[in-house]
Amino acid sequence: MRHEHLLSASQLSREDIETVLDRAAEIEENPAAVQEQYAGRVLGLCFYEPSTRTKMSFDTAMKRLGGQTIDMGPVESSSVKKGETLADTVRVVEGYADALVLRHPKEGSAKMASEFVDVPLINAGDGAGQHPSQTLLDLYTIRENGGLDDITVGIMGDLKYGRTVHSLAEALTNFDVSQHFISPESLRLPRNIRYDLHDAGAQVREHTDLDDILPELDVLYVTRIQRERFPDENEYRQVAGEYQIDDDVLADAKDSLTVMHPLPRVDEIAPEVDETAVATYFEQAHNGVPVRMALLDLLL
Ligand code: CP
Repeated sequence: MRHEHLLSASQLSREDIETVLDRAAEIEENPAAVQEQYAGRVLGLCFYEPSTRTKMSFDTAMKRLGGQTIDMGPVESSSVKKGETLADTVRVVEGYADALVLRHPKEGSAKMASEFVDVPLINAGDGAGQHPSQTLLDLYTIRENGGLDDITVGIMGDLKYGRTVHSLAEALTNFDVSQHFISPESLRLPRNIRYDLHDAGAQVREHTDLDDILPELDVLYVTRIQRERFPDENEYRQVAGEYQIDDDVLADAKDSLTVMHPLPRVDEIAPEVDETAVATYFEQAHNGVPVRMALLDLLL
Protein backbone atom coordinates (compact mmCIF):
# COMPACT_ATOMS: atom_id res chain seq x y z
CA MET A 1 0.00 0.00 0.00
CA ARG A 2 1.48 3.35 -1.01
CA HIS A 3 -0.50 6.03 0.80
CA GLU A 4 0.85 8.84 2.91
CA HIS A 5 -2.34 9.11 4.98
CA LEU A 6 -5.51 7.03 5.32
CA LEU A 7 -8.39 9.50 5.10
CA SER A 8 -11.17 7.80 3.14
CA ALA A 9 -12.11 4.34 1.93
CA SER A 10 -12.29 5.78 -1.57
CA GLN A 11 -8.46 5.84 -1.56
CA LEU A 12 -8.34 2.05 -1.28
CA SER A 13 -8.06 -0.21 -4.30
CA ARG A 14 -8.85 -3.90 -4.11
CA GLU A 15 -5.11 -4.55 -4.08
CA ASP A 16 -4.60 -2.15 -1.13
CA ILE A 17 -7.41 -3.82 0.81
CA GLU A 18 -6.11 -7.32 0.15
CA THR A 19 -2.59 -6.25 1.16
CA VAL A 20 -3.85 -5.05 4.56
CA LEU A 21 -6.12 -8.05 5.13
CA ASP A 22 -3.43 -10.56 4.13
CA ARG A 23 -0.95 -8.86 6.45
CA ALA A 24 -3.51 -8.90 9.29
CA ALA A 25 -4.03 -12.63 8.75
CA GLU A 26 -0.24 -13.22 8.87
CA ILE A 27 0.02 -11.21 12.09
CA GLU A 28 -2.86 -13.14 13.65
CA GLU A 29 -1.15 -16.40 12.68
CA ASN A 30 2.25 -15.38 14.05
CA PRO A 31 2.09 -12.35 16.38
CA ALA A 32 5.55 -13.12 17.82
CA ALA A 33 7.13 -12.21 14.47
CA VAL A 34 6.18 -8.54 14.87
CA GLN A 35 6.21 -8.03 18.62
CA GLU A 36 9.42 -5.94 18.65
CA GLN A 37 9.15 -4.51 15.16
CA TYR A 38 8.32 -0.93 16.14
CA ALA A 39 10.29 -0.61 19.38
CA GLY A 40 11.03 3.07 19.98
CA ARG A 41 8.28 4.26 17.62
CA VAL A 42 5.36 6.31 18.95
CA LEU A 43 1.73 6.59 17.81
CA GLY A 44 -0.17 9.78 18.74
CA LEU A 45 -3.86 9.41 19.60
CA CYS A 46 -5.91 12.59 19.16
CA PHE A 47 -9.58 11.90 19.90
CA TYR A 48 -11.92 14.90 19.97
CA GLU A 49 -14.95 12.56 20.29
CA PRO A 50 -15.63 9.55 22.52
CA SER A 51 -14.28 6.15 21.48
CA THR A 52 -13.79 2.76 23.06
CA ARG A 53 -12.94 0.34 20.22
CA THR A 54 -11.00 2.53 17.81
CA LYS A 55 -8.84 4.19 20.41
CA MET A 56 -8.14 1.10 22.50
CA SER A 57 -7.50 -1.16 19.53
CA PHE A 58 -5.03 1.31 17.97
CA ASP A 59 -3.38 1.57 21.39
CA THR A 60 -3.18 -2.22 21.69
CA ALA A 61 -2.04 -2.63 18.08
CA MET A 62 0.90 -0.23 18.50
CA LYS A 63 1.92 -1.83 21.79
CA ARG A 64 1.75 -5.35 20.29
CA LEU A 65 4.07 -4.12 17.54
CA GLY A 66 6.56 -3.12 20.24
CA GLY A 67 5.82 0.60 20.00
CA GLN A 68 4.31 3.10 22.39
CA THR A 69 1.37 5.48 22.30
CA ILE A 70 0.74 9.00 23.54
CA ASP A 71 -2.79 10.22 24.07
CA MET A 72 -4.04 13.81 23.89
CA GLY A 73 -6.64 12.72 26.48
CA PRO A 74 -10.11 14.20 26.79
CA VAL A 75 -10.64 17.49 24.97
CA GLU A 76 -11.64 19.06 28.32
CA SER A 77 -8.15 18.56 29.76
CA SER A 78 -6.22 19.46 26.59
CA SER A 79 -5.23 22.87 25.24
CA VAL A 80 -8.15 22.65 22.81
CA LYS A 81 -10.08 24.14 25.75
CA LYS A 82 -7.79 27.18 25.58
CA GLY A 83 -8.70 27.68 21.93
CA GLU A 84 -5.90 25.80 20.17
CA THR A 85 -6.80 24.99 16.56
CA LEU A 86 -6.74 21.48 15.14
CA ALA A 87 -4.02 22.51 12.69
CA ASP A 88 -1.77 23.73 15.52
CA THR A 89 -2.44 20.65 17.66
CA VAL A 90 -1.49 18.15 14.94
CA ARG A 91 1.59 20.20 13.99
CA VAL A 92 2.73 19.96 17.60
CA VAL A 93 1.89 16.28 18.09
CA GLU A 94 3.68 15.23 14.87
CA GLY A 95 6.86 16.35 16.63
CA TYR A 96 6.20 13.76 19.35
CA ALA A 97 4.94 10.84 17.27
CA ASP A 98 5.73 8.80 14.14
CA ALA A 99 2.06 8.61 13.09
CA LEU A 100 -1.23 10.17 14.21
CA VAL A 101 -4.73 8.79 14.67
CA LEU A 102 -7.39 11.51 14.62
CA ARG A 103 -11.08 11.41 15.50
CA HIS A 104 -12.98 14.67 15.21
CA PRO A 105 -16.67 15.65 15.03
CA LYS A 106 -16.25 17.75 11.88
CA GLU A 107 -16.52 16.14 8.45
CA GLY A 108 -13.40 16.88 6.42
CA SER A 109 -11.27 17.55 9.52
CA ALA A 110 -8.89 14.64 8.90
CA LYS A 111 -8.16 15.78 5.36
CA MET A 112 -7.57 19.33 6.57
CA ALA A 113 -5.30 18.15 9.40
CA SER A 114 -3.32 15.89 7.04
CA GLU A 115 -2.29 18.97 5.05
CA PHE A 116 -0.35 20.23 8.08
CA VAL A 117 1.68 17.10 8.91
CA ASP A 118 4.37 14.98 7.29
CA VAL A 119 3.83 11.84 9.41
CA PRO A 120 1.05 9.40 8.36
CA LEU A 121 -2.38 10.45 9.64
CA ILE A 122 -5.24 7.96 9.98
CA ASN A 123 -8.81 9.25 9.96
CA ALA A 124 -10.48 7.47 12.89
CA GLY A 125 -13.84 9.12 12.13
CA ASP A 126 -14.59 12.66 10.93
CA GLY A 127 -18.17 13.52 11.85
CA ALA A 128 -20.59 11.86 9.45
CA GLY A 129 -17.80 11.48 6.90
CA GLN A 130 -15.56 8.44 6.84
CA HIS A 131 -14.01 5.79 9.12
CA PRO A 132 -11.70 3.81 6.83
CA SER A 133 -9.83 1.72 9.42
CA GLN A 134 -13.21 0.45 10.68
CA THR A 135 -13.94 -0.56 7.09
CA LEU A 136 -10.75 -2.58 6.88
CA LEU A 137 -11.70 -4.59 9.96
CA ASP A 138 -15.26 -4.95 8.61
CA LEU A 139 -13.89 -6.35 5.35
CA TYR A 140 -11.56 -8.66 7.25
CA THR A 141 -14.54 -9.97 9.22
CA ILE A 142 -16.62 -10.50 6.08
CA ARG A 143 -13.71 -12.29 4.39
CA GLU A 144 -13.21 -14.55 7.41
CA ASN A 145 -16.91 -15.42 7.44
CA GLY A 146 -17.48 -16.59 3.87
CA GLY A 147 -15.53 -14.32 1.54
CA LEU A 148 -15.83 -10.95 -0.13
CA ASP A 149 -17.03 -11.87 -3.61
CA ASP A 150 -20.35 -13.07 -4.94
CA ILE A 151 -22.23 -12.05 -1.79
CA THR A 152 -25.30 -9.97 -0.94
CA VAL A 153 -24.83 -7.42 1.83
CA GLY A 154 -27.57 -5.47 3.61
CA ILE A 155 -26.56 -2.27 5.42
CA MET A 156 -29.26 -1.06 7.78
CA GLY A 157 -30.00 1.85 10.10
CA ASP A 158 -28.59 5.37 9.99
CA LEU A 159 -27.18 5.55 6.49
CA LYS A 160 -27.23 9.35 6.45
CA TYR A 161 -24.94 10.07 9.39
CA GLY A 162 -23.20 6.67 9.76
CA ARG A 163 -19.58 7.15 8.71
CA THR A 164 -18.84 3.43 8.95
CA VAL A 165 -21.57 2.89 6.33
CA HIS A 166 -20.15 5.50 3.95
CA SER A 167 -16.68 3.96 4.09
CA LEU A 168 -17.89 0.36 3.87
CA ALA A 169 -20.22 1.01 0.92
CA GLU A 170 -17.41 2.64 -1.04
CA ALA A 171 -14.91 -0.11 -0.24
CA LEU A 172 -17.35 -2.87 -1.22
CA THR A 173 -17.44 -1.52 -4.77
CA ASN A 174 -14.02 -3.18 -5.18
CA PHE A 175 -15.66 -6.58 -4.83
CA ASP A 176 -18.46 -8.53 -6.51
CA VAL A 177 -21.05 -7.54 -3.92
CA SER A 178 -24.73 -6.75 -4.31
CA GLN A 179 -25.42 -3.92 -1.83
CA HIS A 180 -28.84 -3.31 -0.25
CA PHE A 181 -29.49 -0.27 1.95
CA ILE A 182 -32.31 -0.44 4.49
CA SER A 183 -33.32 2.74 6.33
CA PRO A 184 -36.14 5.14 7.06
CA GLU A 185 -36.66 7.59 4.19
CA SER A 186 -35.14 10.42 6.27
CA LEU A 187 -31.89 8.48 6.87
CA ARG A 188 -31.16 7.34 3.31
CA LEU A 189 -27.60 7.18 2.08
CA PRO A 190 -26.43 10.71 1.15
CA ARG A 191 -26.77 11.57 -2.52
CA ASN A 192 -23.02 12.05 -3.04
CA ILE A 193 -22.32 8.52 -1.79
CA ARG A 194 -25.12 7.10 -3.97
CA TYR A 195 -23.58 8.83 -7.00
CA ASP A 196 -20.12 7.50 -6.10
CA LEU A 197 -21.50 3.97 -5.87
CA HIS A 198 -23.27 4.26 -9.20
CA ASP A 199 -20.12 5.73 -10.78
CA ALA A 200 -18.18 2.74 -9.46
CA GLY A 201 -20.69 0.43 -11.17
CA ALA A 202 -22.02 -0.98 -7.89
CA GLN A 203 -25.26 -2.93 -7.77
CA VAL A 204 -27.25 -0.88 -5.23
CA ARG A 205 -30.86 -1.20 -4.05
CA GLU A 206 -32.65 0.80 -1.33
CA HIS A 207 -35.42 -0.48 0.97
CA THR A 208 -37.42 0.75 3.94
CA ASP A 209 -38.42 -2.77 5.01
CA LEU A 210 -35.81 -5.36 6.01
CA ASP A 211 -38.22 -8.22 5.28
CA ASP A 212 -38.06 -7.36 1.57
CA ILE A 213 -34.46 -8.48 1.34
CA LEU A 214 -33.48 -10.38 4.52
CA PRO A 215 -33.82 -13.93 3.08
CA GLU A 216 -31.28 -13.09 0.33
CA LEU A 217 -28.62 -11.60 2.60
CA ASP A 218 -25.24 -13.17 3.36
CA VAL A 219 -24.25 -10.25 5.61
CA LEU A 220 -26.49 -7.89 7.60
CA TYR A 221 -24.55 -4.83 8.81
CA VAL A 222 -26.63 -3.05 11.46
CA THR A 223 -25.84 0.49 12.62
CA ARG A 224 -26.86 2.73 15.49
CA ILE A 225 -28.97 5.82 14.84
CA GLN A 226 -26.34 8.53 15.38
CA ARG A 227 -28.27 10.63 17.87
CA GLU A 228 -25.39 13.06 18.40
CA ARG A 229 -25.43 14.12 14.73
CA PHE A 230 -29.12 15.11 14.51
CA PRO A 231 -29.60 18.89 14.42
CA ASP A 232 -33.05 18.40 16.00
CA GLU A 233 -33.80 15.92 18.84
CA ASN A 234 -37.41 15.57 17.58
CA GLU A 235 -36.13 14.24 14.26
CA TYR A 236 -34.13 11.64 16.18
CA ARG A 237 -37.17 10.59 18.22
CA GLN A 238 -39.18 9.99 15.04
CA VAL A 239 -36.76 7.29 13.86
CA ALA A 240 -35.31 5.96 17.14
CA GLY A 241 -36.05 2.29 17.67
CA GLU A 242 -37.46 1.83 14.17
CA TYR A 243 -35.09 -1.00 13.26
CA GLN A 244 -34.48 -3.66 15.87
CA ILE A 245 -33.12 -7.14 15.26
CA ASP A 246 -34.15 -10.06 17.45
CA ASP A 247 -34.56 -13.81 17.00
CA ASP A 248 -38.06 -13.39 15.53
CA VAL A 249 -36.90 -10.88 12.95
CA LEU A 250 -34.07 -13.22 11.94
CA ALA A 251 -36.34 -16.26 11.53
CA ASP A 252 -36.42 -15.80 7.73
CA ALA A 253 -32.67 -15.28 7.36
CA LYS A 254 -30.20 -17.78 5.93
CA ASP A 255 -28.61 -20.01 8.59
CA SER A 256 -25.24 -18.82 7.26
CA LEU A 257 -26.07 -15.10 7.74
CA THR A 258 -23.35 -12.97 9.33
CA VAL A 259 -24.77 -10.18 11.53
CA MET A 260 -22.32 -7.33 12.03
CA HIS A 261 -22.40 -3.99 13.85
CA PRO A 262 -19.53 -1.50 14.27
CA LEU A 263 -20.71 -0.98 17.88
CA PRO A 264 -21.58 0.61 20.21
CA ARG A 265 -25.16 -0.61 19.94
CA VAL A 266 -28.08 0.91 21.78
CA ASP A 267 -31.15 -1.21 21.07
CA GLU A 268 -30.67 -2.20 17.42
CA ILE A 269 -29.74 -5.80 18.24
CA ALA A 270 -31.43 -7.62 21.12
CA PRO A 271 -29.02 -9.37 23.51
CA GLU A 272 -30.69 -12.73 22.68
CA VAL A 273 -29.03 -12.55 19.23
CA ASP A 274 -25.60 -12.54 20.91
CA GLU A 275 -26.03 -16.21 21.72
CA THR A 276 -26.76 -17.25 18.13
CA ALA A 277 -24.33 -18.42 15.45
CA VAL A 278 -25.06 -15.37 13.28
CA ALA A 279 -23.74 -12.84 15.84
CA THR A 280 -20.34 -11.65 14.63
CA TYR A 281 -20.06 -8.14 16.11
CA PHE A 282 -17.76 -8.97 19.02
CA GLU A 283 -15.44 -10.95 16.74
CA GLN A 284 -15.59 -7.92 14.42
CA ALA A 285 -14.51 -5.57 17.24
CA HIS A 286 -11.68 -7.94 18.21
CA ASN A 287 -10.45 -7.98 14.60
CA GLY A 288 -9.62 -4.30 15.11
CA VAL A 289 -6.31 -5.23 16.69
CA PRO A 290 -4.70 -7.40 13.96
CA VAL A 291 -6.11 -5.20 11.20
CA ARG A 292 -4.80 -2.01 12.82
CA MET A 293 -1.46 -3.72 13.47
CA ALA A 294 -1.30 -4.49 9.75
CA LEU A 295 -2.31 -0.95 8.83
CA LEU A 296 0.33 0.60 11.09
CA ASP A 297 2.93 -1.82 9.75
CA LEU A 298 2.15 -0.78 6.18
CA LEU A 299 1.90 2.98 6.86
CA LEU A 300 4.97 3.18 9.08
N1 CP B 1 -16.77 1.30 15.94
C1 CP B 1 -16.27 2.41 16.57
O1 CP B 1 -15.77 3.33 15.92
O2 CP B 1 -16.36 2.36 17.92
P1 CP B 1 -15.82 3.48 18.91
O3 CP B 1 -16.64 4.72 18.70
O4 CP B 1 -15.97 2.91 20.28
O5 CP B 1 -14.37 3.75 18.56
